Amino acid sequence: MSRTPRIDFLPYDAQALSEATGRVAVFLGVDGPDSEVARDLDAAMGGALSRLASGHRWGRARPGEIVEIAVPAGLAAEAVLAVKHDAEAGRLAMRRAGGAIAKSAGRGDLTVLATGLRHAEEVALGMALRAYRFDAHRKPDETAEPEGRVRVMSDDSEALARAAGPMAAIAEGVAFTRDLVNEPANVLTTDDFAARLAAMQELGLEVEILEEDDLARLGMGALLAVGQGSDSPSKVVVMRWQGGGDEAPLALVGKGVVFDTGGISLKPAGGMEDMTMDMGGAGTVAGTMRALALRRAKANVVGLVGLVENMPSGNATRPGDVVRSMKGDTVEVINTDAEGRLVLADVMWYAQEQFKPSGMIDLATLTGAIIVALGHENAGVFSNEDGFAEAFLAAAQGEGEGAWRMPMGDAYDKTLESRIADVRNVGTGREGGSITAAQFLKRFVQDGTPWIHLDIAGTASLKSESALAPKGATGWGVMALNRLVADRYEG
Ligand code: BES
Ligand code: MN
Ligand code: ZN
Repeated sequence: MSRTPRIDFLPYDAQALSEATGRVAVFLGVDGPDSEVARDLDAAMGGALSRLASGHRWGRARPGEIVEIAVPAGLAAEAVLAVKHDAEAGRLAMRRAGGAIAKSAGRGDLTVLATGLRHAEEVALGMALRAYRFDAHRKPDETAEPEGRVRVMSDDSEALARAAGPMAAIAEGVAFTRDLVNEPANVLTTDDFAARLAAMQELGLEVEILEEDDLARLGMGALLAVGQGSDSPSKVVVMRWQGGGDEAPLALVGKGVVFDTGGISLKPAGGMEDMTMDMGGAGTVAGTMRALALRRAKANVVGLVGLVENMPSGNATRPGDVVRSMKGDTVEVINTDAEGRLVLADVMWYAQEQFKPSGMIDLATLTGAIIVALGHENAGVFSNEDGFAEAFLAAAQGEGEGAWRMPMGDAYDKTLESRIADVRNVGTGREGGSITAAQFLKRFVQDGTPWIHLDIAGTASLKSESALAPKGATGWGVMALNRLVADRYEG
């Protein structure tokens, strides 16, 4: 498993800076060195920073962009990373600047000058997020630069270390989600997934694992129908963080399909390998719970994940089968590839029966249709309560995680009517496929439970890198949910 890099916060020391190996990152104003540390560094480099800032390259660079000066005279460092800095830059811009630093610094030693910098803790978070790598399955590269030391120097290093503390918890939660989402399905089986969650008991989370016989006793016929074609046992894992008083918890529910072949309604071969990420909802719930525990959040939150594998076999659910959910509604399984909603239906019902939550948010890589609608920039947000939805949208915006409200309405229910059961698991056509999926889920939300459904099929994993993540799993949602908890449930 990967780790987020440790960042040391040290007092600014000009001598140590001139002796620093690897890379040194310095923030420069649009017109050149505009802080005491930048001017000192410029002097040590014989005015190289001033010369850089008077050139075309710098003039054309966008704020947050980095121009590298290789093997600078006057320093021990291999390179200086000059970050073009707009003094007005907000939190998220500084986070992205941290991401840019981590990307161009690579693996070696890195010293970042942060004296006098606003939102320096955001720079540290951006560095930690962008430094993430998933190389668990590569043989070690002997020629690669050895893992270096990351230092942030500032006058007020103690205050900065304090401000960065909760950020480290967030970065670790995001990395945990990314590891889970990146992991292939032969490694991240339902058993392996549950074991990784159980290990979080060390952090003070209560973790309970419900096995197939428990799930059968509870009547979770919908969830069990999805996993019955697989040799891996289906499970529900419950993670409780009790950092608040005795108030009802917020419930987070995640779709954890460790691999989605489609089942008997088999998916085409092309791109099927991407379905290792079909546990992204569960991964985000797990990473959020990890972040909350690491920063000892003062709130009650319960995370529940349904872990199953959707495989075709002689024992698999057939199209046309009718299954009974824990709620009691029967479902005609028209398409075994619409399996996520069957899993969520039972876990959501159990969450409400067991914990009487004050609110419930489910996350799922649920539909290809949400990618058609929103692409990869925004997750779909469906809700039965405007205030709750708006609070989530504000949290997501505050963390730079794209989220867009989608409509719901009873009129969409018509296409879910079954000839022989209480409901079908897919609509009659492909139109509005994400909305009919949300309407299906809504049947399993009890009256009076504020609920949000997040369709993260387009945002959980990307084919291209971004400012804060390499290619692959993004960890989308961990930061938004963490913020929602901080803003709405703590203090
Ligand atoms: N896991 C998929 C949705 C998905 C698609 C996630 C692409 C990530 C990327 C889901 O289980 C699924 O197969 N949905 C079907 C539903 C259809 C059968 C109604 C879909 O979107 O095609
Ligand atoms: Mn599917
Ligand atoms: Zn799926």
